[in-house]
Amino acid sequence: MNQDQLKQAVARAAVDYIQPKLESDSIVGVGTGSTANYFIDYLAEYKGHFDGAVASSEASAERLRQHGIPVYDLNAVDHIGVYVDGADEANPQLHLIKGGGAALTREKIVAAVADEFICIADESKWVETLGNFPLPVEVIPMARSHVARELVKLGGDPVYRQGVVTDNGNAILDVHNLRIHDPEATEMAINQIVGVVTNGLFAQRAADVLLLGRASGVDTLH
Ligand code: 5RP
Repeated sequence: MNQDQLKQAVARAAVDYIQPKLESDSIVGVGTGSTANYFIDYLAEYKGHFDGAVASSEASAERLRQHGIPVYDLNAVDHIGVYVDGADEANPQLHLIKGGGAALTREKIVAAVADEFICIADESKWVETLGNFPLPVEVIPMARSHVARELVKLGGDPVYRQGVVTDNGNAILDVHNLRIHDPEATEMAINQIVGVVTNGLFAQRAADVLLLGRASGVDTLH
């Protein structure tokens, strides 16, 4: 199976995993990216079995609406049972790097609200130590250079993601050459820099379940 087929397999597995939990009043948290897009397409088969969705990006909201799935503002919702989203890297503790699609802040917010965070990833995302994938950091535009200097002090090589404006109107710095041995500490340290909105480490709120697509099948990791 190629990478795209593995993404489809984990997206299908996620729908199978959540399907017994769907009720007429349930709201599904939906992530962003190519794997999440497959999830949205398969989830649409169960339209009407749940109330609607909260999306972590405008792009996912649009895709959900195209399928006729109601999309709610998070402020209008008091409970999200499951949140399903992809990742750029995942380690055995189910700590993640996310934000390759620049949606990290909204992703982190929806993940914080959800009872259960189900990550879906093909095996190319599986690592022992996070940091090979450049860590995305969302920054307030006027603080971009300041934050970049502070990230250099932490040992990283930040690169401005040219031409990208997040759904929140902010900029992205991608931090190269970090070997992240203590993801929770790194997540906290970067979030302490004034001007940072958030960073793409999901360690304080790791995934609860990882559906990992391998050539041999989909593994369910807790
Ligand atoms: C978007 C994300 C995505 O989940 C991550 O980039 C993985 O994307 P894909 O499923 O396309 O490989 O964090 O901000």
